[in-house]
Order: sequence, then structure tokens, then C-alpha cells
Amino acid sequence: MEVVIVPDAEAGGRLVAEAVVRLLGHRPDALLGVATGSTPLPVYQALAATAAAGGADLSRVRVAQLDEYVGLPAGHPESYRSVLEREVLAPLGLGPEAFLGPDSTAPDVAAACREYERALAAAGGVDLQLLGIGSDGHIGFNEPGSSLASRTRIKTLTERTRGDNARYFGGDPGRVPRHVITQGIGTILEARHVVLLATGPNKADALAAAVEGPLAARCPASALQLHPHATVVADEAAASKLT
Ligand code: F6R
Repeated sequence: MEVVIVPDAEAGGRLVAEAVVRLLGHRPDALLGVATGSTPLPVYQALAATAAAGGADLSRVRVAQLDEYVGLPAGHPESYRSVLEREVLAPLGLGPEAFLGPDSTAPDVAAACREYERALAAAGGVDLQLLGIGSDGHIGFNEPGSSLASRTRIKTLTERTRGDNARYFGGDPGRVPRHVITQGIGTILEARHVVLLATGPNKADALAAAVEGPLAARCPASALQLHPHATVVADEAAASKLT
């Protein structure tokens, strides 16, 4: 695992965007695995700025969703599908045909999870998976205790994660859906390159456990220690508890 420490979130965003642009240089139709939340926003902004300046051709890029809430109506502004449309697809000039994601409104959600696994495989697999990290060490919505071999499935969010995400639901953890679909840890580990971005002091404990702690289901992000091409990009605050 390679760890790169950058001064701040914007520098991290630029660095990861550069890695994406390099990938597109030899694979213009790369499948990018995209996370939501606040951490990856500087990456998407830097990518959009690079493309607008003529420094990257994003016309053939495809994006794959990492996780999604279950129980929100289609088109809800805080569904991750809507968030990705606003923060990734629109700024990068991509249409819905470039998007792969699970159908969280399907009557049989478990079948929709299996179908999403098939769709990812049929698309050739994820070339670069961008991840944030939860304050409890989760990746995607694989909460502590998730099997390190897990596949895309339904999970229940912890109260801590619902509290962390309440900011998107009027500050009320009770409005954050309890159930989610997430790519499993085993699914995530199949991406050819995994890039975990961590910024801010509230990620310092989780990042130290992920990078320097034992490989353990209690810190799902520690599974990246198993990946042959994993890059951690952390700002100084998130890296402050690394030895
Ligand atoms: C979101 C996701 C989550 C977030 C994590 C950190 O798609 O997969 O694992 O990356 O909860 O969220 P932020 O970046 O908002 O701190």
C-alpha cells in the first residue's frame, strides 16, 4: 500500500484527478468507481476543471456507483444516484449511458445486488475505484464486522454512520435511511487500482487503523492491505496518527 501525504484536501483532489487523467491516457473508456460524501468532491472538481481546460478527454469514461440508500424514492435529491448525477455526471459532461449502478428501488433488492455484480463484470470490471473512509473505518457502506470477502448486498448502517450523514438530511439522523446497498469488500478489492482519499482530523483514527492496524473486519478499510495496487492519499490532518 502506497501512502501519499498532501497538505490539504484540494491538493489531494488534484493528485487523484491526475491519476485518473493518466489512466484515461491509455484507457479512454475506463470504468471509474465513484464514491459519494464530501471527501471525493475536490477530485471531481479538479477533473472537471482539467477537462474544461482541454487537459483530458472524458467523453468515453464510464462511472460505477459504490453504494446507495435503500428506501428513498427514485429521484430523491439525497439518493446517491442523484448526488452522482449532480456532482460527477453533469460536471464531467457524461450522460446516463455512462452510468452503472444498482437498482435500489427494485422489488427484490437482493436480486438487484446480484444483477449489479453481473453488470460490473460484464463492463470489464472497475479500473480505478475511488473510496472515502468512514470515521468507523467503513469503505463503501461496509460497516465494521463486514466480511472481508463480501459481495454487493444489503447492509444496515450503524447509528454512528447515520449520525455522520445526518448533515445531508436536515441534521436529523432519524431521517437517514437505515438500509443501503453496497459493493462488498471482495467486490471493491477486484478493482484494478484502489485509491482511498482521507481528509480532516475526524478520519485520523480510522486511517491509522486501516494502514497500520491489523487486517481485521472491525476496520473494513484495512482490507486494502491485501490489494496489490492500493494508494492512500491523506491530508496532514487525516495522516496525523500514522507513525
Ligand atoms: C460514500 C461511501 C462512504 C463515504 C464515507 C466517508 O459513497 O462509500 O464510505 O466515503 O462515509 O464520507 P465523507 O467523505 O462524507 O466523510
